[in-house]
Amino acid sequence: MKDSAARATITRIKQEMGDRLVILGHHYQSDEVLEFADYVGDSLELAKKAATIDKADTLVFCGVYFMAETAAVLAPDKSVYIPDLHAGCPLADMAKEDDVARAWERIRSISSSITPVTYVNSSVEIKAFCGRNNGIVCTSGNAGKVFAWAFEQAQKVFFMPDRNLGRNTAHGMHIPDHEIVEWNPEKPQGGLADDEIENARVILWKGWCPVHWPGFTRENVQDLRRHYPGIKVIVHPESDPDTVQASDVSGSTAKIIEYVQGLKHGDKVAIGTEYNLVARVAKRYLPLMEVMPLSRQLCDDMAKITLDKLALTLTSLEGDTFRVVVEEDIARDAFKALTNMLGIQR
Ligand code: 13P
Ligand code: SF4
Repeated sequence: MKDSAARATITRIKQEMGDRLVILGHHYQSDEVLEFADYVGDSLELAKKAATIDKADTLVFCGVYFMAETAAVLAPDKSVYIPDLHAGCPLADMAKEDDVARAWERIRSISSSITPVTYVNSSVEIKAFCGRNNGIVCTSGNAGKVFAWAFEQAQKVFFMPDRNLGRNTAHGMHIPDHEIVEWNPEKPQGGLADDEIENARVILWKGWCPVHWPGFTRENVQDLRRHYPGIKVIVHPESDPDTVQASDVSGSTAKIIEYVQGLKHGDKVAIGTEYNLVARVAKRYLPLMEVMPLSRQLCDDMAKITLDKLALTLTSLEGDTFRVVVEEDIARDAFKALTNMLGIQR
């Protein structure tokens, strides 16, 4: 379908369905897709929106699969669709259910006072695992608050799957590196000795986002500071701790947008996150401010959502081709972990 035909189809179906249809779009989507989104946000904002929309019976999620799956768990009375079921997330794929269950068994045999916490960038099965074990979900927008909650429940935190977000969050709570260990799923026993698990306060899963690491580095930050004295640098906390420490601030995609909004005319700022967001913010502030990427990194999975596929999804709502379905018992346990998170937001 040509873009103009796709646009006409989307516009027509949106008009026909009115309030029954809500399109949610993540900040990493292209401008042409976001033009049709009713709500644009970071993962936390979109999860909250999915949990509270009441008029609609149909949600179409323009983002990656775990986000649509989260919306399906939080809005069980609605039909949730994603324009490409293969828009996954390599970070989420790094924590497999069986590997996590094995790690948990070993860790719990050494220390029983531990809360499992999963980043929302994970499969629904990992969220359900957290729900079953008195754990919780976090996003990059609330990880600090969620860690504080987790430490109220137990002495240790087991955090999956992003080692960078986990370590950055622990550092934000002044937990030193010698109290943080990494469970490597590719090594026998996670590569950890009993006393390392015993002495740790935070056990991190060894996973990472290939868009944020190693795409952004301390050297990128230092180079830009040399070329543009006075430049501000903000990065997403999926970047490694070294890069975060070299930057001025780190935060979720929503926080990045808010930070740029608060700068003065004439300021220069470099952003370390997915390029679609950076390009959109740069366009918005030109010529008042110079906004540039820390380095140009694209998320191939976010890019799988196109206008064409959005139009096709909207014309196929009767069938299950683009529908996100979560098994009932898994959804029930994942819901527990997600509502624990939403509960501490209020
Ligand atoms: P946010 O939670 O900041 O929206 O980020 C989601 C994501 O996938 C980052 O790579
Ligand atoms: Fe996953 Fe990274 Fe893409 Fe975010 S940017 S969806 S964490 S691969």
